[in-house]
Amino acid sequence: MQFSIRQISNFNTLDTDCLVVPVPENNKRLQGSLAAIDKACGKMIRQVLDSGDFSGKRGQHITLHLPKPSKVARLLLVGCGKPVTGKHKAGKEQQQLQHWAHQAGQHLQRLKARDAVICVDGLPIDDPASVCQLLAHELAASQYHYSETLSHKPPRPTLKKVALHGVGNNAAVRQAMQQGQATAEGVHLARELGNLPGNICTPSYLASQARQLARQHKTLGCQVLSEAQMKKLGMGALLSVSRGSDEPAQLIILQYKGGKAGQKPVALVGKGITFDSGGISLKPGAKMDEMKYDMCGAASVLGTLHAIASMKLPVNVVGIVAASENLPSGRATKPGDIVKSMAGKTIEILNTDAEGRLVLCDALTYVGRYKPEVVIDIATLTGACVVALGEHASGLFSNDDSLADDLLAAGQQSGDRAWRMPLWEDYQKQLKSPFADMANVGGPGAGSITAACFLARFTEDYTWAHLDIAGTAWKSSPKNATGRPVGLLCQYLINRAGG
Ligand code: BES
Ligand code: MN
Ligand code: ZN
Repeated sequence: MQFSIRQISNFNTLDTDCLVVPVPENNKRLQGSLAAIDKACGKMIRQVLDSGDFSGKRGQHITLHLPKPSKVARLLLVGCGKPVTGKHKAGKEQQQLQHWAHQAGQHLQRLKARDAVICVDGLPIDDPASVCQLLAHELAASQYHYSETLSHKPPRPTLKKVALHGVGNNAAVRQAMQQGQATAEGVHLARELGNLPGNICTPSYLASQARQLARQHKTLGCQVLSEAQMKKLGMGALLSVSRGSDEPAQLIILQYKGGKAGQKPVALVGKGITFDSGGISLKPGAKMDEMKYDMCGAASVLGTLHAIASMKLPVNVVGIVAASENLPSGRATKPGDIVKSMAGKTIEILNTDAEGRLVLCDALTYVGRYKPEVVIDIATLTGACVVALGEHASGLFSNDDSLADDLLAAGQQSGDRAWRMPLWEDYQKQLKSPFADMANVGGPGAGSITAACFLARFTEDYTWAHLDIAGTAWKSSPKNATGRPVGLLCQYLINRAGG
C-alpha cells in the first residue's frame, strides 16, 4: 500500500474510488473538509445529518454516491463519536482514532476500493505526524487476512493507494507515515507467522524466515545456532525443552545495524515455542491447538526487525529467537529432572509445561555477549497473565523504572498497551527447591510474577524488561494473531532513535 499527502483545493474535480470523511457525533456546524465537501456535493452531507439516519456516532458509517459529473465514485462518511474531554484525553483520543481508522479500512476493503482519499482534518489528536503514523499503520494492518493454507483463496485486498488530505506536507509527516506503514508490515509478518500451523511453522521454518529477512535487508545479518552448538555453550535449560521433539531447537540471531558502529544495541529476545503441548506435564485437550501461537514472541521480534529495517531506523538492535517444540516422548524431560543452565544455575523442572522460561533463561544469558544497552524479552509466558489482564494489556515487568516508563509510554502512543506488574523480592521464595538452585514453577499464586521472577535471576547484569503477551498476541474467536506487541516495540525504537 502506498501513502501520500495530497492537498485538494477543489473537491469538484477530485477523481477517486472513495473519499473518506470523518464525522464527529452531533456536529452542528460543518467545518474544514466536511464543509467544503458538503458545498461541493450540493449539501448532501447536511441532508443526511438532518435526516437522522447518520449522526456520526462511533461505529456508524454511510456510503453516498455523488451525481455526475463528480469523479468521486463514493463518499464514505465514518462516525468518530463524541469529542473527548476531561481526564485521560490523549489516551482516549488515541483509541478513538485507532478505532476510526480500523473501521474506515474495513469499509474500504468491503467496497473493493483501489484508491482512497482520506480527510485527516476532522480527526482528533493535535500532532499531525502521529495522526498520519497511526492512520497508515491501522489502514495497512486492517487489510490483513490469513489465506496461506486455504485452497479457496479469499479475494486479495484491492486498496493500493491512500492519499491523506488536510495535513501539511512536510518531512516529519512523510516520515511518520512511512513509519506507520512499515510498522504495519511488521505486524503483518508477525500475524502470518503466528497463524501458520505448527506443522509448517517449525523452529527450522522460523530460522528460514529469519535468513530470508537478512537477504531482504542489507542492514540485517542472520546467524542460527544448532543444538550441537547450544550444547557446547551449556544451554541445558533450552535443550531440555526440545528433547522430546524430533524437530531440533534453533537459536536464531538477527543483527540490525542502523546506528553508529560503537552504539550498544537494544536486544529483543522472543519465546519461539512453535507448539506447546505441555510435554510430559501434558495440557488438557481443549483449545490445545491455540498453542501453535506460543511462538508469537518470536514472531514479534522478526516483525519488529523487518519493520525497523524498512524504516532504516538509526538504532542498533539484536534480535534473538529461542525456537523449539515442547512435546512428550520417551526421551522427553520429566517432572523432577534437574538441568544446568548456561549461567551455571541448576533448575528442577517440576512442570514441563513451564517451558518458556527454560528456553528464555539461556537465550537471556547468551544475549549478554552483545553488551546490550537494554534487553526486552517477549513471551506468551503464562495463562495467569490472561487471568490478570485479559486481552487488552500485555504484562510488563522490569528491573529498571525508566525502561518500564518508556515502554508504557510507547504502548500508549501506539495503542498497543502494557501494564506494569511487580517484581518484588518477596515472590522469589516461591521458586525454592530442595534439590536445585531453583524450581521452574512457583506454585498457584501470582503465576505471571513468579515466571518473571525466574527470568529476573538471569538478567541481573543488564537493564531488562519482560513483556508477557499471553493475553494480547492472539484472539480466540475468531482465531487470529494480532501482531502485538510489534506496534509497541516499533514505537519504543522510533522514540529511542529520535532521542
Ligand atoms: N504457553 C503457555 C502459557 C499460555 C497458556 C499462554 C495459555 C496463553 C494461553 C506456557 O508455556 C505455560 O504452559 N505456562 C503454564 C505455567 C505453569 C505450568 C506454571 C501456565 O500458564 O499454565
Ligand atoms: Mn507451556
Ligand atoms: Zn508455552
